[in-house]
Amino acid sequence: MAEDVDHGQPSAEPTASDFDEGFAASAGSDGLRRVWHAAEPDLPIEIEPFSFLSVELLDHLSRALALTPGQLLVDLACGRGGPGLWLARAAGASLIGVDFSSVAVEQATARVALFGLSDRARFVVGDLTETGLPDASADAAVCVDAMHFPAEPAAAAAEAARILRPGGRLVLTNWQPRNPQDSRLPARLRHRAWASILDQAGFTDVRVEARPEWHDVYTRVYRTALDAGDPDGDTALADLQDEARRRLETADLVDRVVASGTNPDPR
Ligand SMILES: C[S@@+](CC[C@H](N)C(=O)[O-])C[C@H]1O[C@@H](n2cnc3c(N)ncnc32)[C@H](O)[C@@H]1O
Repeated sequence: MAEDVDHGQPSAEPTASDFDEGFAASAGSDGLRRVWHAAEPDLPIEIEPFSFLSVELLDHLSRALALTPGQLLVDLACGRGGPGLWLARAAGASLIGVDFSSVAVEQATARVALFGLSDRARFVVGDLTETGLPDASADAAVCVDAMHFPAEPAAAAAEAARILRPGGRLVLTNWQPRNPQDSRLPARLRHRAWASILDQAGFTDVRVEARPEWHDVYTRVYRTALDAGDPDGDTALADLQDEARRRLETADLVDRVVASGTNPDPR
């Protein structure tokens, strides 16, 4: 799931084509479906996350976004769209999903009807740091497990602030070091502090919350993938197992957080 390239050895920023390959491999993966069903049996099957979500976390995001019917939600780095589509449907909102992987955008577009949102959801190719969306056009923005991917997460936060209307809220899920001085963590992760990233981008009322149950989803999905054994040619499952072996080593050094902030009224 390409969760977090910089949990392990320092590596270059992943490109859109890295993700294209991951999305192409996972589309028909029975192995991934089995892992999700075993790890999070209550998660609606159609969500097919490329991230680490539970029903409880989705409900939390939904409350934090506080959307009302007819408002516009932007899902930043939407992947194949499930989380944003679920959140928009739950609120009676419209949705624009943005991702730099054209394969993800294609898959998300094909899944709109599954959520009954054909008349009010669409997906576009764009970068977290340059979405191509107009200024002040979104009522709320969500970003699930992705805002750390650009070299400068602050540039992604600034882009979210640009597209949000005054008073609009950004809500994101991510990882943060428990101890920023811990030398076992790669430098890029050590310096990841969502409160200061959102502050720097001009957000007000910034909150960062860590809950053990959100961290549990993350490690449970990985452990379930490893328990699945021989991937038997399922490359998406094999990739997830590789990722699990690497990430579980440092999983206890990070918190899984929900960070949020409000785009201020210009004065
Ligand atoms: C871990 S996946 C999460 C996908 C989706 N949010 C979900 O919950 O299923 C990370 C996503 O970030 C996207 N991504 C990574 N870097 C990006 C960037 N700079 N601009 C736009 N999308 C990016 C990837 O293509 C991928 O869809």
